[in-house]
Amino acid sequence: MILLIGATGNVGKHVLSSLLTETTDIRLGCYDVNETKTQLNIPTIEYVPFDFYDQTTYKVALKDVQSVFFIRPPQIGDPSIIYPFIDALKEQNIQHTIFLSLMGVEKNPIPPHGKIEKYIKKQQLTYTFIRPGFFMENLIHPHGQDIKDYHQLVVPAGKSKTNFIAAKDIGEVIARCLLEKELHYHKAYTLTGDYAYTYEEVAALLSDVLEKEIIYTKPSLLGYRRHMIKNGFDKKYVNVTVFLYIMTRLGTAKDRTDTVKTILQRPPTSLKKFIEENQLSFI
Ligand SMILES: NC(=O)c1ccc[n+]([C@@H]2O[C@H](COP(=O)([O-])OP(=O)(O)OC[C@H]3O[C@@H](n4cnc5c(N)ncnc54)[C@H](OP(=O)(O)O)[C@@H]3O)[C@@H](O)[C@H]2O)c1
Repeated sequence: MILLIGATGNVGKHVLSSLLTETTDIRLGCYDVNETKTQLNIPTIEYVPFDFYDQTTYKVALKDVQSVFFIRPPQIGDPSIIYPFIDALKEQNIQHTIFLSLMGVEKNPIPPHGKIEKYIKKQQLTYTFIRPGFFMENLIHPHGQDIKDYHQLVVPAGKSKTNFIAAKDIGEVIARCLLEKELHYHKAYTLTGDYAYTYEEVAALLSDVLEKEIIYTKPSLLGYRRHMIKNGFDKKYVNVTVFLYIMTRLGTAKDRTDTVKTILQRPPTSLKKFIEENQLSFI
């Protein structure tokens, strides 16, 4: 049995659909079981209640489970909220734990992902760490509304480059790791696309595919922060993204790896193809 936490999210939904082509021994840990059941409408798998904040949900979710995939929900900034779940993985002798981490955490102690990785290692779990770069889906959420309504790309990345990856590619890699287990024990995979773009280039690609001019506004970090908070985004969430864009400006988002191609035996999704496939989200 494989337990998935975060299966309704950007990455989790692709882990699920990819796994379903080979197995139905899947249990979803859901914040709201009824809502998730209705939303996904997949009767062949199990659904159990799960909330990182409610430790009483852990035991039932982990019963008879061999492998676990989990994410750190973006709303949970404090990594210590996740530690009791990692303790439960240890207590239940889970064979394989896959954690959705973040590119560069091995060199950067500030994001919670690095602390969670350390805690997993401290508990001597058999792990695979998945460390993706910026998701292409960020262009839809949180930046899609600006693109849609104002034909603007409002990201404080200056002239720096970013090697985006599609959540679908990440999800497929994670599914391979879950299914081929031993091959991926004690590995940390940095996942990227195949090309690093400036946001000028991203705006040009959007303009080309959507057939309307999208302007990269190149805001300052504070200007971006004000803009996002004014648009209703949570302050803490915006502060985390400001930090990530400071790192991006320093050149940390532009690296490229071949891991997606090696594991999936196909090239990563290009940004142009992603925009083409998701055109409706931008108009
Ligand atoms: N965006 C990027 O560019 C990027 C890049 C690298 C790494 N990451 C990391 O990726 C992670 C986010 O992944 P994602 O985008 O796939 O997630 P997402 O789309 O934001 O979805 C969050 C998921 O977490 C679940 N969830 C929320 N609160 C929960 C709780 N208290 N207990 C259990 N489950 C809960 C949600 O379930 P419900 O639907 O039931 O609420 C949902 O399935 C973050 O840690 C982020 O830092 C993001």
